[in-house]
Amino acid sequence: MDNVVVRDLKESDIDDLVEIEKLSFSVPWTKSAFIKELSNKLAKYVVIEHNKKVIAYGGIWLIVDEGHITNIAVHPDYLGKGLGNIIVESLIEKCRENKVLSMTLEVRKSNLVAQNLYKKYGFKPVGIRPEYYSDNKEDAVIMWKDL
Ligand SMILES: CC(C)(COP(=O)(O)OP(=O)(O)OC[C@H]1O[C@@H](n2cnc3c(N)ncnc32)[C@H](O)[C@@H]1OP(=O)(O)O)[C@@H](O)C(=O)NCCC(=O)NCCS
Repeated sequence: MDNVVVRDLKESDIDDLVEIEKLSFSVPWTKSAFIKELSNKLAKYVVIEHNKKVIAYGGIWLIVDEGHITNIAVHPDYLGKGLGNIIVESLIEKCRENKVLSMTLEVRKSNLVAQNLYKKYGFKPVGIRPEYYSDNKEDAVIMWKDL
């Protein structure tokens, strides 16, 4: 894709993030949740901007030497174009810059697309959190990657 900029999150992006959340998740993060994240010293968010709109983003919490991916989403109009790859690579890069030793995340058991994406970058399934998602009591797969 042309005209794509990868950069850190800023407050004026949040309405775009909330729109993508609503289109992507059954329990979307709210505007206030993202505003809180801007002042969370442990949190780092990257966005992909295209024609002045954010079309993809991902976040991570850096807790001591571990990076916890909080959320990743691509606007449904832009799926399958490699933006998920760019977000995961950017988050891995942020972890390396911050001397993080390992990365982890939870993903719905049914979300094979996201699991494929993470596996491509070396994340391995290491456990299950039973009924982790409150909306439908779906299990979470815990994935882990050493850096
Ligand atoms: C998961 C998600 C971020 C992938 O974004 P994307 O931009 O479509 O992904 P990409 O085009 O960069 O593809 C990256 C990899 O994901 C996997 N993937 C993407 N689309 C896929 C599909 N339809 N079927 C199977 N695997 C797929 C492949 O491993 C792909 O690798 P490749 O580039 O070598 O083919 C996107 O589907 C999304 O936003 N989903 C809704 C939100 C979500 O589930 N987030 C994850 C929460 S843990």
